[in-house]
Amino acid sequence: QQQPSATHNPHPAAYTQGKHLASTDAVPFPDGFLWAAATSSYQVEGAAHEDGRTDSVWDAFTRVPGAVLSGHDGEVACDQYHRYVEDADLMRSMNLGAYRFSISWARVCPDAGPVNPKGLDYYSRLVDTLLERDILPWVTLFHWDHPQSLEASGGWGNRDTALKFVDYSLAVHEALQDRVSVWTTLNEPWCSSMLSYGGGTHAPGDRDYGKALAAAHHQLLGHGLVVQELRQRQPQAELGITLNFTVADPVDPADPRDVDAARRIDGQFNRLFADPIFRGAYPLDLLEDLEAEGLRSGFEEKIQDGDMAAISSPIDALGVNYYHGEEVSYRAYPEPLQGSAPVERPTQSPHAAAHGIHGRNRGLPHTAQQWEVQPEGMTRLLLRLQEEYTGPAGTALYITENGCAYDDVPDAHGYVEDTDRLEFYDVHLRAVRDAMEAGADVRGYFAWSLLDNFEWAWGYHQRFGIVRVDFETQERTVKASGKWFSEVARTNVVPA
Ligand code: NOJ
Repeated sequence: QQQPSATHNPHPAAYTQGKHLASTDAVPFPDGFLWAAATSSYQVEGAAHEDGRTDSVWDAFTRVPGAVLSGHDGEVACDQYHRYVEDADLMRSMNLGAYRFSISWARVCPDAGPVNPKGLDYYSRLVDTLLERDILPWVTLFHWDHPQSLEASGGWGNRDTALKFVDYSLAVHEALQDRVSVWTTLNEPWCSSMLSYGGGTHAPGDRDYGKALAAAHHQLLGHGLVVQELRQRQPQAELGITLNFTVADPVDPADPRDVDAARRIDGQFNRLFADPIFRGAYPLDLLEDLEAEGLRSGFEEKIQDGDMAAISSPIDALGVNYYHGEEVSYRAYPEPLQGSAPVERPTQSPHAAAHGIHGRNRGLPHTAQQWEVQPEGMTRLLLRLQEEYTGPAGTALYITENGCAYDDVPDAHGYVEDTDRLEFYDVHLRAVRDAMEAGADVRGYFAWSLLDNFEWAWGYHQRFGIVRVDFETQERTVKASGKWFSEVARTNVVPA
């Protein structure tokens, strides 16, 4: 049998032509592989002002004219706050082994103040409901919706927010630790620092790269401090973080300027987070780039004694969110696929913040959001993580998000025959299995997302669900991709 290598692409023609790999063999997964789906609090809960919840940064940001397409917001979203029992039944019927959801900080600690028992109670009921159905609750403590009141003193640009995050996390832990064994500190801190404080496209919408860097450090610090506390309080728990990764390839691998562009993107996107967590230090080349821009000392001033030790506390699980790769250059290309924000207000591309780097449309199939479909990037990414970060640390890998938005067309019954999404899952699961066969210790896969939901600056215009949500009636209808995924979860096999 052929051994996949780091750049092995078993079906290059099918990938580049976007064809369904129906003719390929069935791919079995190892016993115990976890099949699951994910959401996040602001994207699905709704009930934005109920039971004491106060504004999160996303409530405030959605009120900024032009910040979110069509002025959509999360006031109602999927109404999961009122429909969690129905949704848990749905998950059970889909054979899901875990539900990855996040806790709303502003529900548990309104205005970042004292604990609100009603807010905690919601999550307690949700956890019980899942456990009764044999679904593992996979809890994320921060998925971007911190209380708006923290912004008055600088939000994540302020070190104090990391300390407040610890207090809030311990309150959640105290209430749920008797039933929750898996804790994820942060989801995609690249987004909640770079897009939120640098690019301006995510709440609170700042455009200040120095502040974005400070936010990244403070989020990592919050992560490390929470890991230290939880490790003591619950030694058996599985602790981790979820990062989003890109696979940046130079347009011309023979041109050192393109190679350097890829290095910078990799530094700012991937290594800015993975290095401190697994190696206890920020990447030197990134610090040198910052120095050239006059930002290094401002960044290093934020790092206090003990911070790096906390940040590099051992973790049990690295959550990997992968959506697409990119081809980058020092040159500008006329129609890049990535990086376009769907909003009218002025924004700064975080890639521009990483020194005028440009993307190129290399002609791969793409989703409705103009994201490349590039499954072989996922194989390469997982093997690299295994080799350079998680393998040496003895940390397991989980795909905590992978999925796609397409323009779904429901029939009269709300059913969506989403062949495109089903094919996306098919080729990506094969890519995951390729990486596993080549040595990546991947233990589970979470589809993003269980439900169509509030897709941040895109509002409800992008649908990621394997279950359709009719936002008029809140009716849920499992899509073709969801039926297919349920079968994969039941049989532990990606069918031929
Ligand atoms: C990553 C984020 O964690 C999630 O909130 C978002 O909806 C998906 N990517 C799709 O963009």
